[in-house]
Amino acid sequence: MKRIVVIPGDGIGPEIMAQAVKVLKAIENKYNASFQMDEALMGGVAYDEFGTCLPDSTMKMCKEYDAVLFGANGGPKWDFLTGEKRPERALAVLRKELELFINLRPVKVRKSLAGTIPLKPEIVGDGFDITLIRELIGGIYYGLPKEGDSERAVDSMIYTKGEVERISRYAFELARAESKKLTSVDKENMMEASKLWRSVVMDVSKNYPDVKLNHILVDNCAYQIVMDPRQFEIIVTGNMFGDILSDELGALAGSLGLYPSASIGYGKKGLYEPIHGTAPDIAGKGIANPIGTILSAALMLRHSFDMNEAADDMEQAVEAVLDKDFRTADIAEKDKKTVSTGEMGDLIVKEIE
Ligand code: IPM
Ligand code: MN
Repeated sequence: MKRIVVIPGDGIGPEIMAQAVKVLKAIENKYNASFQMDEALMGGVAYDEFGTCLPDSTMKMCKEYDAVLFGANGGPKWDFLTGEKRPERALAVLRKELELFINLRPVKVRKSLAGTIPLKPEIVGDGFDITLIRELIGGIYYGLPKEGDSERAVDSMIYTKGEVERISRYAFELARAESKKLTSVDKENMMEASKLWRSVVMDVSKNYPDVKLNHILVDNCAYQIVMDPRQFEIIVTGNMFGDILSDELGALAGSLGLYPSASIGYGKKGLYEPIHGTAPDIAGKGIANPIGTILSAALMLRHSFDMNEAADDMEQAVEAVLDKDFRTADIAEKDKKTVSTGEMGDLIVKEIE
């Protein structure tokens, strides 16, 4: 039996999470698997109940269980919380405590969504994939000093050799396994942490002569992702650059709502979450796109549970539903069928069954 902590969180979190749970139950039946899914609170909802965005009980479950499936945290209701008390910081602390230093963000640019994607059809072509690997528990999110008042504020971008080595080794291994080109993104013309980043990546590359590697500055990378995205196959970068570039890649997908992620470390345990936020403006309306969360659950099957066949099945079910022209509001198109969050979940379940 696999034990999963289910953390819906705030805003659209509960709506989208309900669909992922539904789909996991369908997988459970079809593959004779057994998932124990227990809910926990984190973020604003946890603050309302316990006075903290990351209750000890939630942290304890996350440490004990096999995997964590997470929706999103934060919203205007909790904007009075500052610094370490913020809902988003709870997520940052959880990632760090679980030592999840690898954040995998595989984006799919689909031919079936060519009408929604803000790229010329000739760039979309038959579609393509890019995997962004983001270092998740170092860099400017975590470096000290980190403090501020109304006059002056500081965040510190710190990387150590060891931190860059472990994430780049993972990236090279993946690039080797998939015979793909690797692009390392930094800002080495301006930042010391980036200079170290680039030199460590170059050192690690000596063990991977078969992997084609190039380096690109983050500003140029942002430009190239729009102008000529097909030059990228696997991207590896630091925490903040990865955060920013992944939203840009989400635009290539047609909507941030389609984009999953897996945060993993040395062991099998992982934290799986869509890359979008809580979308407070549409929360409770039943129009949010659950696909990013459902695809995150597929990543959980693959990376934490070694259920590759079931993961493929789930991903194919999503593709099939999109190919049949079903769309949530964020990817709605004239002449296509717009469905609610719950209907999208049901359609994917039906496809699996
Ligand atoms: C993400 C999010 C988070 C991040 C926030 C919510 C802390 O934007 O996962 O991309 O910046 O890492
Ligand atoms: Mn982000």
